[in-house]
Amino acid sequence: PGSLLSITHLTVEEVSAILGATARIEQMPHSERAALLDGRKVALLFYESSTRTRTSFELAAKSLGATTTLVSDKSSSIEKGESLKDTGLTLRALGAECIVLRHLSSGAPFLLARETGLPVLNAGDGMHEHPSQALLDLRTMLTRLPGLDPATVHAKTLSGVTVVITGDILHSRVARSNAMLLPRLGARVLLCGPEPLLPEIARELGEGVEIERDFDRALQQAQVAMMLRIQRERLAGMELDLGEYIARYQLNAERLAASAPEALVMHPGPMIRGHEIAGEVADGPQSAIEDQVRHGLAVRSALLVRALNADGFKRVVA
Ligand code: CP
Repeated sequence: PGSLLSITHLTVEEVSAILGATARIEQMPHSERAALLDGRKVALLFYESSTRTRTSFELAAKSLGATTTLVSDKSSSIEKGESLKDTGLTLRALGAECIVLRHLSSGAPFLLARETGLPVLNAGDGMHEHPSQALLDLRTMLTRLPGLDPATVHAKTLSGVTVVITGDILHSRVARSNAMLLPRLGARVLLCGPEPLLPEIARELGEGVEIERDFDRALQQAQVAMMLRIQRERLAGMELDLGEYIARYQLNAERLAASAPEALVMHPGPMIRGHEIAGEVADGPQSAIEDQVRHGLAVRSALLVRALNADGFKRVVA
């Protein structure tokens, strides 16, 4: 209980409750917020590098009164070959009550939750899922698109909204989690990219998810344009002509003005300016990229309270 392993494990009502709690916690005075997880212990277990996810979980936990410890693969006994199970059991023996896990293997958070019995928050597992990112992306859309309430959702909240996700879909846990969440709220998700980074099999992601390979045609339909980095570390020998990719898929100012002058621009980070997105777009008025980071802090606060203080979570939702 309290784990978040996959976005598919949340009902629409639970997503709504998390958004409601996020809004309430954000508005709390500092002292009230710091009482929610006073003295609780959160372990941040990171087998892959991270800036946003790690820092926002850490700052969120501290602002709620919890203490945190960071264990990374680079400076722990993981380097000596200790298994995920034994690392998790060690953290539990040291008093950790919740583990935030980023791991290079899809499904690792499920194993850790099973072996430790602790609530585990999936902070990104391989090419599988990044559920807290999908929630913060959702909150960003709800705050920036007109006429929506950031504190509540239902099955039709995003009706009429097309979210175009462009880039390295194949390797993207962000794309997967968003594609599994947003259609349940009424959105249409349009995936865009070249065949090697967006195989036809992506059509099987389910209802509400389509493929459009022509970037300009996709943008013309977008209320939200979410750009993704090419994950060079996962390409494993796959050849990609970067110049051709940039010509066809880079979101630059001319393209944005011509095809999507009103669309919200999003990027989960880390972004590579000059590759998938031009710097002027990332810094421009349509960009919600820094909003996404701020919403990450807020949403992850609610996820930590949900994981560690079920009664407190019910109270802030009510
Ligand atoms: N979006 C995201 O997961 O960023 P980090 O890898 O920096 O955590």
